[in-house]
Amino acid sequence: MAAPAIAQYSESELAAEARAGLVRAGQKELPSKYLYDEIGSALFEVISVLPEYGLTRADERLMRRHAGDIVACLAGPVRVAELGSGSGRKTRWLLEAFSLRRPTTYCPIEISPTALARCESDLGQIERVSIVGFEQPYLDGLRAAASGRDAQDRMLVLFLGSTIGNFDRDAAERFLTEVRSILVPGDALLLGTDLEKPLPQLLKAYDDSLGVTAAFNLNILARMNRELGADFDLAAFRHEARYNSVFRRVEMHLSSTRNQTVAIPGAGCAVSFVEGETIWTESSHKYRAEDISGMAVRNGFRRSAQWLDSEWPFAESLLIAR
Ligand code: AVJ
Repeated sequence: MAAPAIAQYSESELAAEARAGLVRAGQKELPSKYLYDEIGSALFEVISVLPEYGLTRADERLMRRHAGDIVACLAGPVRVAELGSGSGRKTRWLLEAFSLRRPTTYCPIEISPTALARCESDLGQIERVSIVGFEQPYLDGLRAAASGRDAQDRMLVLFLGSTIGNFDRDAAERFLTEVRSILVPGDALLLGTDLEKPLPQLLKAYDDSLGVTAAFNLNILARMNRELGADFDLAAFRHEARYNSVFRRVEMHLSSTRNQTVAIPGAGCAVSFVEGETIWTESSHKYRAEDISGMAVRNGFRRSAQWLDSEWPFAESLLIAR
């Protein structure tokens, strides 16, 4: 995918969630959505072209190589909706393949107006593809996109880039159930998931030698300095990527290099750290290709097809609503 959404949260929401996550006993935590302001989204774009981070290229390769196969799985007129389309770069081949068969409507759902505008202008040029964008959160946008369909249209929902990996496993299942509740039998979901891979490869993908992922992670502190008037000393926190083998996920943390207290005036609090204490900023869950059938069935789908990348373990799975 291109950059995930650049969301504009009100200062008070960031302030409230920062306070809740940092002023508490036990593991300090910040919601990963706050990584993606304009700077964070630009840094993620750079991550996606790093040699160590093969995820985005694998997703894109599968979408290019198998566009025709995906289209062949879905007869009749199809209305394509994409959750968090970004620039929509990975989706072009699929839309071209659908449009060879018949005129097709594409509904990108994207909370960042900048990304949505870019998507509309980049993909709006494809012949026989009409674009109807929704600047909304995923499920609101999907409801709007689905309610605009013609009676004979089948929906194909795209959720690419292993964005689902940011959800805890039970939240991921609940999300699939929510998506399913907006669909009718025969509709489809194409789900991209990053797969388990050897630990050294996995950890390097989240701790690259250039330090881009470290900058991406530290930006969440810089953002609190910018938006909440906090006084985080970025040199006193270190990026850390850990593999949690119980939950099968990579966790990003920011580790305090010394005992320190940080003031966050915009959140009305001050936060103390002991040396080595961390703020947990993101989880990226890793899947096994064979996990997807069970996830599908538990949430009202069946898995109809799956495509795997040969260079970087990643799966594109086509789920059909039952
Ligand atoms: C965009 C959520 C798929 O979890 O791999 C990349 C974000 N974080 N490097 C991921 C990310 C650190 C990425 N996703």
